[in-house]
Amino acid sequence: MGLVTKTINDLNYFSPVRSGYFVEDDVQRALAKAITMTQREMPDGLEIRREYSEVPRTICDVEQLQHAFYHLIQNAFDAMPHQGMLTLRLGAQSKMVWIDVADTGVGIAEHNRDKIFNLFFSSKSVRGAGVGLYLVRRVVDEHAGSVVVQPQVNSGATFRIILPVKGPSN
Ligand SMILES: Nc1ncnc2c1ncn2[C@@H]1O[C@H](COP(=O)(O)OP(=O)(O)O)[C@@H](O)[C@H]1O
Ligand SMILES: [Mg+2]
Repeated sequence: MGLVTKTINDLNYFSPVRSGYFVEDDVQRALAKAITMTQREMPDGLEIRREYSEVPRTICDVEQLQHAFYHLIQNAFDAMPHQGMLTLRLGAQSKMVWIDVADTGVGIAEHNRDKIFNLFFSSKSVRGAGVGLYLVRRVVDEHAGSVVVQPQVNSGATFRIILPVKGPSN
């Protein structure tokens, strides 16, 4: 699919943001599906590490989450085009479930840090459309969750999504 087509599809998918698809489900399932979606694009020298602990089932929209994870993994690949480590973590703490997508890639320049979630912001010259993190933010908002990023220039970035176990209407 061409970049423009893909972007338009992504936007259509979320616009208007669907609602009413929240059911008790397994966040790990969304993560597994996202990994499958990205498999073919995985850089050759990339290692994946999974650090999953048991988490409670969560009121969530698995399909939306799958897309959010997909974009985070895709960005991690872009940050590590040749080699690196993608670490996926899953954990739970006080009625919240969190998911980390961590890479050992290029990191995020300081002057870009407050822009990366903006629609159409991209630092990538060729393939960037600047839609991924905007969608991540929207999906997380729909879940009444939060997303935080811990960037280090030259030593990668960790995106953490935190979701309330009881979903958006707790
Ligand atoms: N894992 C990451 N490592 C380094 N920079 C990142 C990462 N994820 C996102 N970014 C930065 O955030 C920008 C916006 O990401 P995104 O919305 O997915 O758009 P795109 O991937 O099309 O550039 C990227 O262009 C990049 O500058
Ligand atoms: Mg992206």
